[in-house]
Amino acid sequence: MVIGVPKETAGGETRVAQTPETVAKLKKQGFDVIVECGAGANSYFPDDAYEQAGASLGTADQALGADFVTKVAAPTIAELVKMKNGAGLISFLRPLDDLETIRELAAKGITAYAMELVPRSTKAQKMDALSAMASIAGYKAVLLAAEVLPRFFPLLTTAAGTIKPASVLVLGAGVAGLQALATARRLGAVTSAYDVRAAAAEEAKSLGAKFIELDLDTTDAAASGGYAAALSSDRAERQVQLLAGHISKMDVVITTALIPGRKAPLLISEEAVKGMIPGSVIVDIAAPNGGNCALTVPGETVIRHGVTIIGSMNLPAGMPFHASQLYARTVLAGVGELVKDGAFRLDLEDEIIKGCCITHNGQVVHDRVKSLL
Ligand code: NAI
Repeated sequence: MVIGVPKETAGGETRVAQTPETVAKLKKQGFDVIVECGAGANSYFPDDAYEQAGASLGTADQALGADFVTKVAAPTIAELVKMKNGAGLISFLRPLDDLETIRELAAKGITAYAMELVPRSTKAQKMDALSAMASIAGYKAVLLAAEVLPRFFPLLTTAAGTIKPASVLVLGAGVAGLQALATARRLGAVTSAYDVRAAAAEEAKSLGAKFIELDLDTTDAAASGGYAAALSSDRAERQVQLLAGHISKMDVVITTALIPGRKAPLLISEEAVKGMIPGSVIVDIAAPNGGNCALTVPGETVIRHGVTIIGSMNLPAGMPFHASQLYARTVLAGVGELVKDGAFRLDLEDEIIKGCCITHNGQVVHDRVKSLL
């Protein structure tokens, strides 16, 4: 079986789906690998390193024409037409949001596996690309905030007087949020966190953060797999009002809250932004899903009411070397699970395959995605 590694074409995408390290491992497992020339250039993996690892270098058409295409972002229509009927694809696909791509994949007869829907089980943990990328997003978000904040993060005692440490609040203490809390604390900030899932409190506290308790019933907010469930609209509104009092005291707010398959919940209203100290910063990690702040402009950094609001769409792409390294390892693990003896394993009773196989044999085979169509 030939594994293809095309260069990513989405604007701002610097990552690559395989690194020389994973290519060498694929070769050892008996795969041939064809890497598009320059595929790793933006993540600092040069062509010759791929060749030394055993890959052949080729054109985009050759990489996309492989038996099993490995990608970071979903293929565009232009890329899809270059894929072979019946080929496999493993990639982020936004399968609950981008239904048009899913229809196209089915029409083309692609067996497509979505990284977003890898089940959260012990067995599938090594394929958990979402968590790997969320850690990078959390880390990067804090660095961006520190860069823009017109104030110090750490406590400083100088001859010119003492500087108070920055206060950083993380809304959504999941994978990205916990990494943000750890990073902000390493930079010397005083950290606090809020999440609807009760389990997040202990995790945040173990990183030295204060956990904010709101006068709000969120007992039904924990869904399966560690994900959160949406709050009813009256409680969601109350949450926004209650959070505003805390947000007003912060120098930096990092928001990460997501509900799978839905627009990101609103946590910061325009009123709350108005109440913040001028010069403060919001980094909205949920921007690709619509954002947690009412004033976030996805893909842009804007200043509203004296507050800088960063709505980056692809924070992991800002650290492409390690983002690619970690992503490629999750893809390698995926190939190991999904291919056996040179053929796709299509046991739809298998927990991992059932969880992340979206299209096969011209059909959408994933129950949840099918219901959305
Ligand atoms: P996520 O990216 O879907 O959401 C981020 C955070 O936002 C979550 O902690 C969620 O509870 C929170 N959130 C959602 N709505 C909110 C609201 N209205 N207000 C405040 N917070 C809100 O989740 P993520 O980070 O991917 O995972 C969450 C948890 O799942 C992790 O902390 C971990 O415990 C668990 N997990 C389990 C894995 C496994 O079993 N293999 C792998 C990865 C995570």
